[in-house]
Amino acid sequence: ASKSVLPTPSMGFNNWARFECALNESLFTATADAMVSKGLLAAGYNRLNIDDCWPLHSRASNGSLQWDPEKFPHGLPWLGQYLKDRGFNFGIYSDAGNSTCGGYPGSLGYEEIDAETFKSWGIDYLKLDGCYVDPSTEARYKQIYGHWHQILSAMSEPLIFSESAPAYFSGEDNLTDWYTVMDWVPKYGELARHSDDIATFDDPDAWSSILTNYGYEVLLARHQAAGYFNDPDFLIVDHGNLTLDEKKSHFALWASFGAPLIISAWIPGLEAEEIEYLTNKNLIEVDQDALGLQATLVSQDGTWDVLTRSLANGDRLLTVLNRGAEEGTLNVSMVRAGYADSQGQEFEVKDLWTGDVSTVTDEIEVTVPSHGTKVFIISASEGCESSLVPTGMVFNT
Ligand code: DGJ
Repeated sequence: ASKSVLPTPSMGFNNWARFECALNESLFTATADAMVSKGLLAAGYNRLNIDDCWPLHSRASNGSLQWDPEKFPHGLPWLGQYLKDRGFNFGIYSDAGNSTCGGYPGSLGYEEIDAETFKSWGIDYLKLDGCYVDPSTEARYKQIYGHWHQILSAMSEPLIFSESAPAYFSGEDNLTDWYTVMDWVPKYGELARHSDDIATFDDPDAWSSILTNYGYEVLLARHQAAGYFNDPDFLIVDHGNLTLDEKKSHFALWASFGAPLIISAWIPGLEAEEIEYLTNKNLIEVDQDALGLQATLVSQDGTWDVLTRSLANGDRLLTVLNRGAEEGTLNVSMVRAGYADSQGQEFEVKDLWTGDVSTVTDEIEVTVPSHGTKVFIISASEGCESSLVPTGMVFNT
């Protein structure tokens, strides 16, 4: 991973969770236009990524991949220019194995050619999926992704490399695998998927899929730093089975993680209230914080999860998720937010959803709706910063 390639997590759009293989040129041009008119580009969502099912089933006689001209009548270089003219970057998808998950040609054996082709089409970001890698072992993935890393990092302007590999061989029952893969995954790429796919549009279990991916991500916090970001998958903003509080939680948790914020939705059709939370300046600033750390879980009791994270300016983030079926109130001590030995000290607390600022001592009372998430920035008063403990410490208070 290189901080110069991706200093802060990527933000933008990908078609997969919402449209799967039903992609075409007008989806991308209409999405880009709507991202401009709805203020998403101005808020930082500056990238459109094509996922699986874009190519023809056969390579050209010189070996290069070819876009499907029925789906992309003007071609991908034209689309890249369309996006560039409007201020966007352009990303693409391929697969490490012989075939993509959707049955299109994979890049195995064509790595150099494909990297060159993508570059020549104006692409600066590659998501490399992990279907049909044989044998499907960690060693084999390491070899193929290592090869790609060599090719991409040798380019004059390296493509951002998003690795899907870990999602294919690490699981919750298999935590030791994660610790070995984390030796190479953050070195080879700027982003990596570890968890299952987030619910697609037709999958009813949207909230549980968000919580599952959240749960995986929590275990990986220590591996993230500016230049390498864990990727808990897309923001499914217009999924029919999510309440507004659940969607806002999804966004707030991903922002707390400093995760990529890649929207997979029909953006021209998004409601004002969805655009409003997606463009929340405070939360985007947290997501894009220069330290690039991921929030760590400091406590999990009953239906409450409390996370915290250090920010570049020395402030502390506090994130409170209510998994319960009812609204509830939790008192969170400043010690849990990382300020040890802070009795009687005054803190300035900013609620990132409302922008309200208040002064507290010792603890903060947090009321959160069912499946909601509240996020605060806590600034210590003069003299208290020195008691800040490093991110990752766990308290039982
Ligand atoms: C599996 C990946 O995890 C998804 O994000 C998507 O890229 C599909 N494959 C495409 O087939």
